Formats: sequence, C-alpha cells, structure tokens
Amino acid sequence: MLEDRRILLIVAGGIAAYKTLDLIRRLRERGARVRCVMTAAARQFVTPLSLSALSGDKVYDDLFSLTDEAEMGHIQLSRDADLLVVAPATANVLARMAHGLADDLATTVLLATDAPVLVAPAMNVRMWDHPATRANMALLRDRGVAVVGPDDGDMACGEYGPGRMAEPRAILAAIAAHPGKAGAAAGPGGPLSGVRALVTSGPTHEAIDPVRYIANHSSGKQGHAIAAALARLGAAVTLVTGPVRLDDPAGVGVVPVDSARAMLDACRAALPADVAICAAAVADWRAADSAPQKLKKAPGQETLTLALTRNPDILATLSEPGPDRPRLVVGFAAETERLMEHARDKRARKGCDWIVANDVGAATGTFGGDRNTVHLITEDGVEPWPPMDKTAVAERLAARVAATLSGGTA
Ligand code: CTP
Repeated sequence: MLEDRRILLIVAGGIAAYKTLDLIRRLRERGARVRCVMTAAARQFVTPLSLSALSGDKVYDDLFSLTDEAEMGHIQLSRDADLLVVAPATANVLARMAHGLADDLATTVLLATDAPVLVAPAMNVRMWDHPATRANMALLRDRGVAVVGPDDGDMACGEYGPGRMAEPRAILAAIAAHPGKAGAAAGPGGPLSGVRALVTSGPTHEAIDPVRYIANHSSGKQGHAIAAALARLGAAVTLVTGPVRLDDPAGVGVVPVDSARAMLDACRAALPADVAICAAAVADWRAADSAPQKLKKAPGQETLTLALTRNPDILATLSEPGPDRPRLVVGFAAETERLMEHARDKRARKGCDWIVANDVGAATGTFGGDRNTVHLITEDGVEPWPPMDKTAVAERLAARVAATLSGGTA
C-alpha cells in the first residue's frame, strides 16, 4: 500500500503517455497522492483533463502561470513530493535533466526538487542506443536517479528492441520499492544506519591454468543493486564481488576477488555483519590442480579430462551458527526447473533465513538482463513478487531487511 506516498508524476511527450493514465489509476487505488506536471509535447498524446480526472488534482504545465505561482510556487510543487516519477521519460527530457536545463515547468521542477527521481524511459530503440542518450543515462544514474525499464518489444514506430516504457505495474513496483525522500534524505541517518551489511555479487573465476578459467554468465547487476540499495538506507556495506563490468556502487566498500576461495576469505574478513546477502553466482567446482603453466596439447591428443573439486559454500559457511553469524542471512536460488522445490530445499540445506528464488532458464533473460522475477522464501512461507527491474528487487529487499532488523527478528 502506498498511503503515505506523495508522487509528483511528470508526463513527457511520448506515445507511452497513454500507459501513464493506467499508472495513475493504480497509484491512487493503492492510496498514493498523485499530482501531475505535463510538458507541452505531452499534450499531443494525452489531455490535461484525463490526467486531472484520474489524479483528482489540477494538472500543472505552465512555468509562468500567475495563478499557479500564487497558489503554489513551482519550488513548493517540487518539494511537496516524496518521489518524482518521470513517465514516459523521453530522450529529450532525459537530456534536459542530464544537463540541468530548466526551460519549462517539468525540467524546472526536476532541477529544484530535493526528492529522489525515478525515470521510466520510453523512446525509439535507436534513440535509446544513441551514445548521447547512453551518456545522459550514465550521468543520471551516477547522480542517483532510479531507472525502471525500458522493455524490449515491438515499438509504435515499427521497430523492435529496447525502448518501450516499462508496464505500469512494473513502474508501480519500482515506486513501492523506492524509499522516497524519507529513505533517501535520511542517508547515514536512514533506517539501516548503524547496520553492517555484507553482499556478494558477480561470478567467480576458477583458474584452470594461468590463461583459462571456469566461469558463468552472472553480470553482478542484482548483487550490486542490492549493495547500493542497502547503502542508500544508511547501512555500512561491504560488497565482495567477482569479476564484473559494473561501476562500484556509490557509498559502498568494494572488495574485488576472483575465485570462490578468495571470496570466502574476503567475506570472513568483513565480519561481523548484521546482515549478509549472497547474490554471487559462485562456481561450485574448481580445477583440482590448477596448472602453474599454460596447458599444452600433446601431439594427437583428442580429449582432456579435467578433475574438479568442490569449492567452499560461502552462504552455508556464513549461515553456520556461532557468534559471528549475521542476524539475517539471505541467499539466492538460481534455478532452471522446479524453482520452489529446489529453493525451499536450498534454504533448509544452507541454513540461511531467507532465499530469493529466481528462474534463470534461458528464456527468462535473467542472467545479464535488467529484470528479475523472484519469490521471497522466509520462515513464514513464499511471497511471489511481480516481475520488476533488478534495482526494484534490490530496493524492495533492502526495505524488507530494514523492517526485519528493526523488528529484531529474521
Ligand atoms: N553460494 C555460495 N557459495 C557457493 C555456492 C553458492 O555462497 N559455493 C550461494 C549463492 O551466492 C546463492 C546460493 O548459494 O546465494 C545458491 O546458489 P545456487 O548456485 O543457486 O545453488 P548451489 O549451491 O550451486 O546449489 P545447486 O548446485 O543445488 O543448484
């Protein structure tokens, strides 16, 4: 439920604006107060009357409106919200945000706000892939702007690819998971301040010889997003990560490692911690004898048998009872079949408190992709979460961690 949320929804001029009408309806159904600002271009796609009727409030679109300024200055408008949501966020509005332009009410409000911002990009696939848009998105992400979508799919312009605005229910989930101004502004004083968190992320690389290794497809996106979300709520976070192509999340202590054994050592060194979240895709096996020199083929050799040996289980180790056991230990279960059965079994076997179960079958695009569909398994049962962006999964998990640790139990 979103009863205490005050959302300022900025509607820019894209064909996806029609989906924003459904988003407003869903937000209001859940009790959020929604106030809309629209750009001039947005009027070409939806009418102020529809936005006003659905939001139950007047719609703001004029920077120089004497009436609006007398009733509520644009600075007040931007500060009155606990989250600004830009949906659809067109290439144009993202560019203006990235460069700090304030040439209409929407961008002025975005520049003047002290609330966090969530954007739902929507544009043609080539515009999304353009280096200018990529650079603008990187700048915005660096500044802490949260992003939901875009999705892949057929586009109104007849092309196919990433650029479709996320579906209203995914945007709704991202809003629900976002801590808003209370969480973001709290920073070090946030709900997890004083809490020490340990997160593992990424794949591990297990050397076969000096030039070859065993690895997997994990991108580290989910683990990194979790570390960032915990830090935003004020936790002191150590992120132990295998080799990934991601920037270090802001405000997080990062320990890069390569193998499972190095990851375990780094995790032990990071204890004590109040919460540990193991999102890394740790290789279960490593070469029994890693060759000191590059393995050479013998003349006529047609096969090679590699002996493997078990790697330590980091999640199970951290879950072992003892004075150093974190109060809350969370693991992931990446499965390609019989998701629930395997995940429940994993929770029992590894001794952790929660399991985030995700289907990583090839058709899901979870490995390396931006979205995730998970179930949270706790001692109370199974909670299915709707499909959402990995950052939204991270925010929601961080919020659950905060609620649980403040309640005193796992
Ligand atoms: N994990 C770990 N150390 C390992 C293997 C897994 O910490 N050596 C953690 C992962 O970070 C994840 C959880 O255990 O949180 C489950 O990982 P997963 O790969 O799904 O399970 P496995 O342990 O490999 O079990 P199985 O072979 O049955 O799938």
